[in-house]
Amino acid sequence: MSDQVGNYEIIDHEYDVVVVGAGGAGLRAGFGCAEKGLKTALISKVFPTRSHTVAAQGGISAALGNMGEDDWRFHMYDTIKGSDWLGDQDAIEYMCREAIPAIIELEHYGVPFSRTPEGKIYQRAFGGMTTHYGKGTAQRTCAAADRTGHAMLHTLYQQSLKHKAEFFIEYFALDLIMDDNGTCVGVMCWNLDDGTIHRFRAHQVILATGGYGRAYFSCTSAHTCTGDGGGMVLRAGLPLQDMEFTQFHPTGIYGAGCLITEGVRGEGGYLTNSEGERFMERYAPSAKDLASRDVVSRSMTIEIREGRGVGDKKDHIHLNLMHLDPEIINARLPGIAESAKIFAGVDVTKEPIPVLPTVHYNMGGIPTNFRTEVVNPTAKDPHAVVPGLMAIGEAACVSVHGANRLGSNSLLDLVVFGRAAAIRCAETVTPNSPHMPLGADDGSRALDRLDYYRHADGDMKPSELRGEMQHTMQDHAAVFRIGETLEEGHKKIVETFNKRDQLGLNDRSMIFNTDLVETLELDNLLYQSVASLSSAVNREESRGAHAREDFPDRNDDKWMKHTISHVDDKGATALSYRPVILHTLTDEVEAVPPKARVY
Ligand code: FUM
Repeated sequence: MSDQVGNYEIIDHEYDVVVVGAGGAGLRAGFGCAEKGLKTALISKVFPTRSHTVAAQGGISAALGNMGEDDWRFHMYDTIKGSDWLGDQDAIEYMCREAIPAIIELEHYGVPFSRTPEGKIYQRAFGGMTTHYGKGTAQRTCAAADRTGHAMLHTLYQQSLKHKAEFFIEYFALDLIMDDNGTCVGVMCWNLDDGTIHRFRAHQVILATGGYGRAYFSCTSAHTCTGDGGGMVLRAGLPLQDMEFTQFHPTGIYGAGCLITEGVRGEGGYLTNSEGERFMERYAPSAKDLASRDVVSRSMTIEIREGRGVGDKKDHIHLNLMHLDPEIINARLPGIAESAKIFAGVDVTKEPIPVLPTVHYNMGGIPTNFRTEVVNPTAKDPHAVVPGLMAIGEAACVSVHGANRLGSNSLLDLVVFGRAAAIRCAETVTPNSPHMPLGADDGSRALDRLDYYRHADGDMKPSELRGEMQHTMQDHAAVFRIGETLEEGHKKIVETFNKRDQLGLNDRSMIFNTDLVETLELDNLLYQSVASLSSAVNREESRGAHAREDFPDRNDDKWMKHTISHVDDKGATALSYRPVILHTLTDEVEAVPPKARVY
């Protein structure tokens, strides 16, 4: 079927479910839906096995207890504490309990996990993971050497082929199609290869578009991590949640930003300052180098600020693994040995790796319930779902990570909630049921935006505007924050947002016009940068990754609530708040009341 909308001839498709994004979350949801008999399309701007999940290194958490005692309730406790009590406890219970069957399922699908001598899945220690509610150290992170994401992504792609999910590869999602009642009825896409425009109708659209790390200048995220789903949601008039919470991974390679897995510290590696001191012993006497990421990143930043950084400029920290058995490095950390050589010129058996906290993960995103249905907490009924729209993985805010995510809970989040989305679709969608006629939005809203940027004739290059945004985010929404610089950053980012009308593109073509793709991605990033800075200005407390020097304490009375942000097309933000869910899903476990968070 084809149709004419505005200046474009469009090709129509009808599916039961359309998944946007084919990383770990998208693939798990996509083949899950296909397996359940739903006609399912997966749309991805890159080839699926190039999605950013491929870069995940250290592993995926689940209380299997292969390397010592463990229990999913311990995992739940650690995740709630790690979230600094901003995580929703019903969703955290769901994730930690379902982790165990989800990993066994992955093993059966064929993920080549590393093994113990007895043949069980190998598990390593990761930050903030304990037994007995903070008393012991858990080895809970299931690993395939230091290439766990790579192993998982390829396996999930193979499962998707097996279950005959249909792929639309190198298709760029432009915008959601919303009907007159606020139901999501599809998504508009641009086929980068031949320039055609496609209108996908679906009973459920699942956004699995990943995070928006590229809003920052230095991050571990791939260039594709531009939060396209979050941008689409804001433009559809729906809000995002907890956008002030950005995770800095303690060990990005100094200068290059590439990830050096926390698994290095899990295998016995440690950080030192210019005096050769293992300074984490001062900041986290019990967990030391395996405290949660926000704590380690802050400690490193303090060491550098106080003049104990390493290198000529004293502006980074050393990560040591020279004392580890080379056989362990070879078997369990081969990828980081290679990255350290390529990006820092370091032989890890002889020299420390120069590292620096680097933007790694967005805790905030599209608000959903634990079934992965998108919710709009500002609607008349704040619990009602947005019909036809779901979100999973880093694009979503379920919220299982709250104010700070624990390492290895991200691969877990994407498989557990990818699977949950498929389960929910099977409950709510009747295979091959007819699609209702479109409302006022027939896809023209998306095409007007495409046309606007395609014909932009100002004198500013997209790369210039992107640089402006990335430097503002890097300087103003950093590991430590203060009201004055946040406010200045917010003002600057709104100015940058409104310079979009000064953009000029050299290329008007519709075929692999990377200038146009990057401009549309920049637009998505700018919406989320504005939401992030305005949410950060308003939250006058320190919680998890949001460390305010002017409000150094957590303030549960005033701030134990999620930030909800709408951003309009002028860059104006409307903020509101909703309570954190402090009750569990079942009576198999008790809620964890807030207390001081020490490691
Ligand atoms: O350090 C790492 O391997 C990263 C893991 C994660 O972010 O979950």
